[in-house]
Amino acid sequence: NLYDIGVIGLGVMGKNLALNIADNQYRVAAFDLDELKVQDTVLQEELERKRYLKKITEPRIEGCNNFSEMLSKLEKPRVLLLSVPAGAPVDGVCQSLIEAGIDSDDIVIDTGNSLWTDTVEREQRYANDFLFFSCAVSGGEVGARFGPSLMPSGSLKAWNRIEPIWQAIAAKVDAKTGLPIERFEPGNPVKEGEPCTTYIGPAGSGHYVKMVHNGIEYADMQLICEAYQLLTQGLGLTASEVGEVFERWNKGSLNSYLMEISADILKQADPLTGAPLVEMILDKAGQKGTGLWTAVSSLQIGCPAPTIAEAVYARALSTQKTQRQQLSQRLLGPTKNLVSIDKQAFIEQLESALYCAKVSCYAQGFQLMTMQAKEQGWQLDFAEIAKIWRAGCIIRAKFLQSITQAYQQDGELENLLMADTFAKALSEKQQDWRVAVSQAVLSGIPAPCISSALAYYDSYRCKTLPASLLQGQRDYFGAHTFERIDKPVGEKYHLNWSGDRSLNKV
Ligand code: 6PG
Repeated sequence: NLYDIGVIGLGVMGKNLALNIADNQYRVAAFDLDELKVQDTVLQEELERKRYLKKITEPRIEGCNNFSEMLSKLEKPRVLLLSVPAGAPVDGVCQSLIEAGIDSDDIVIDTGNSLWTDTVEREQRYANDFLFFSCAVSGGEVGARFGPSLMPSGSLKAWNRIEPIWQAIAAKVDAKTGLPIERFEPGNPVKEGEPCTTYIGPAGSGHYVKMVHNGIEYADMQLICEAYQLLTQGLGLTASEVGEVFERWNKGSLNSYLMEISADILKQADPLTGAPLVEMILDKAGQKGTGLWTAVSSLQIGCPAPTIAEAVYARALSTQKTQRQQLSQRLLGPTKNLVSIDKQAFIEQLESALYCAKVSCYAQGFQLMTMQAKEQGWQLDFAEIAKIWRAGCIIRAKFLQSITQAYQQDGELENLLMADTFAKALSEKQQDWRVAVSQAVLSGIPAPCISSALAYYDSYRCKTLPASLLQGQRDYFGAHTFERIDKPVGEKYHLNWSGDRSLNKV
């Protein structure tokens, strides 16, 4: 009567993952330091079982009082899923498991938003105590309950043991259309379709991929927010009118979960005042750090990801509300908004601009993973990564199917902008993108992500950049040398700027 898997940490994600696993015919032992959370999870399982699974009488989730009890209830080698906050709590639980007598071939899986380098360290730190494995999870509460996107990495031995469970609980995609198969019914999980999980690579790689997912998530969210501001403050549309525009966009190439929920949010009235809810929400954005980590990683590795970084800055700037209020009275901007332009035409141009900017920010994220994979010696399969983001995760979107196909055609693709489909689409739409950015600039409405994405596109299609002058400047004040276009790569030259201005090969 042993249990298949132990779930430790029964917050929103842990509880819902436990229920999802139980729905897929695995028996779960559950524990949380907070006894009430254990009771709540057990009760929820019982309620759902009685309501939806009348034939099953045995509880599928059993609560435990402590770590030792949990270990005694699990089939060996044991599989333990941790759903605790990233950082010290992960090590706290690992230590408790060691004290409770975990075996060296047991598997502990960290499913939080851990920093990828912590995961690499943990695999080594606990190597003598148990198999430390990690699996990044995307999809929030509903994803965890009915099918998340799962990004596992670490020991292959651990992966072979847990793969069937992971494939069962993951979100599913219709292989023909590339679209999510969604069913949100307790006791009736989606069994058909392609599961949104794949072994990513060695320790840390899964969390790195999830971190970049979140960086893209930040940028994608900010892009949609900028479109909202342009349509309201620029064109004078109401929130719910923008909601309708977004609903329309969601039927085309911009189809995505984030677009869908944004439309829904914009159409929601505030229960207290009746005003659009979005206008009653304080305009200060929070963040837990994964977008920042992505931007930092891109800077460290020298991979341009300006739109992701701008999205992090945009959240930071939003929190400077007092300064913004003061400066709104003092710094001048244009006096006109966009009222005089053809509204319908602008909405269409903005739709194209958003699509281009979105491709640009995904290109940045995928290039970052490509460069980091090279640095770390990870063999990442980008077609598979794009595939498991097609359902379950927060950035799920129709166009991930095109990204999947682009990498299926060329697994060595250095940048998505080089893929035929995207090069063609962006070339066709770039004029609209420019109109959107220039209208934003002319009307004084900030659009840092839409415009930085365009600068990224323009920089990449620029055969000659002014870095020649920059190298001249560096050589001038710091004798940092430069290479010449007419000499072999790697040959360094210095001009004697402060003396006779002779050219010397260094
Ligand atoms: C997901 C989300 C999830 C969460 C992040 C981002 O993929 O399910 O990315 O992990 O929303 O913690 O949160 P912040 O916006 O607070 O940084």
